[in-house]
Parts: sequence; structure tokens; C-alpha cells
Amino acid sequence: MRARILVAYASKSGTAVEVAHAIGEAILQNGAVQADVMNVRRVDSLKGYNGVVLGSAIRMGSWLPEALAFARGNREALNALPTAIFTVHLLNTDDTPECQAARAAYIAPVLALFAPVDVRFFTGRMDHEQLGVFERLVAGMVKAGDSDQRHWQAIRDWGAGLPATLRLA
Ligand SMILES: Cc1cc2nc3c(=O)[nH]c(=O)nc-3n(C[C@H](O)[C@H](O)[C@H](O)COP(=O)(O)O)c2cc1C
Repeated sequence: MRARILVAYASKSGTAVEVAHAIGEAILQNGAVQADVMNVRRVDSLKGYNGVVLGSAIRMGSWLPEALAFARGNREALNALPTAIFTVHLLNTDDTPECQAARAAYIAPVLALFAPVDVRFFTGRMDHEQLGVFERLVAGMVKAGDSDQRHWQAIRDWGAGLPATLRLA
């Protein structure tokens, strides 16, 4: 039977949804594995999966609460499976020690729960149309204009490598 990988994501304004689907499609290019792409809120159980890719957008310095709740709730299963995580964000993208520390802080609560074999950060998108009033205010404060900074080739390349990274193909 073909190995099955779950790509589970949390997203507030849609960017990470599209990233997760691009990862899922890239995984499927490897005919030896199956992939399901699903919002973490819709995942009832990890039963039947041979590997899990978990990703979240960042808001105010943290993964989204439902992604952290998913990691906490499925901690045991996530420790028994090969896993990888991705983070979609826009700040702290440089390679300075400060930015590296900020990125590490984004995922520290996740790494406290399980040990992914690979960890990736992707630059996302700011789309004010998709934001609520409070979020627009915060986005204005960080001077983030509308922009899509997703590097689709890098996202697809990472996805295509995941079956091997997770040792499932
Ligand atoms: C209110 C708000 C707060 C944000 N806070 C952060 C942050 O602390 N660090 C960061 O790197 N990106 C931050 N971002 C950028 C988002 O992570 C980025 O826009 C991402 O693509 C959103 O993904 P989503 O559309 O899947 O929710 C913030 C965006 C908004 C709108």
C-alpha cells in the first residue's frame, strides 16, 4: 500500500492554505505516496497516516492557536510518526542573529511537543482586503503594504522532497 502523508495547516487569511495545497500537489508528484491536505480543525485523527506535515501562518509572533492545539492534542501520534513543519510569515526574514532568533521563537512551542525531521519558513502574503479591522491596524503598524512574497518554486521543491525527507519513498 502507498504511504499516506497528511498536510495539515492553519491559516487566517488564506495564504497558508494555498501554500499547503502547493506542498500537497508537489508530494503527489512522487507516485509512491498519497497526500491529503486539510485544515487542522478538520482533522479528527492521524490514524492511517504514515507521516505528517504541519504548517501555520504567524500572527503577532505565534503560530495560530488551532495549530498549537492540534500539536498538543496529537502529541503522542506526532512523536510516533515522521513529521515536518512549515511556517508562513513576513517579518524576520533576514539571516541576522536577531531574525534567526525570532524565527526560532515562532516554532519553539511546537518543538517542545515533537521533533520534526525538517523545519521550513516561507515568506507569505499581506492582503489588506482579507483582514479584519484590528488586523489592518496591526498590519499598518508594521508598515506592511500589500504584497505576495511567496516563492512558489521553493515551496514546490520542498514539497517534492518531503516523501524522501520523511523516509516514506
Ligand atoms: C495582524 C497580523 C499580524 C502579523 N504578525 C506577524 C508576525 O508577528 N511575524 C511575522 O513574521 N509575520 C506576521 N504577519 C504576517 C503573516 O504571517 C502573513 O501575512 C501570512 O502570509 C498570513 O498567512 P495567512 O493568510 O495564511 O493567515 C502578520 C500579519 C497580520 C495581518
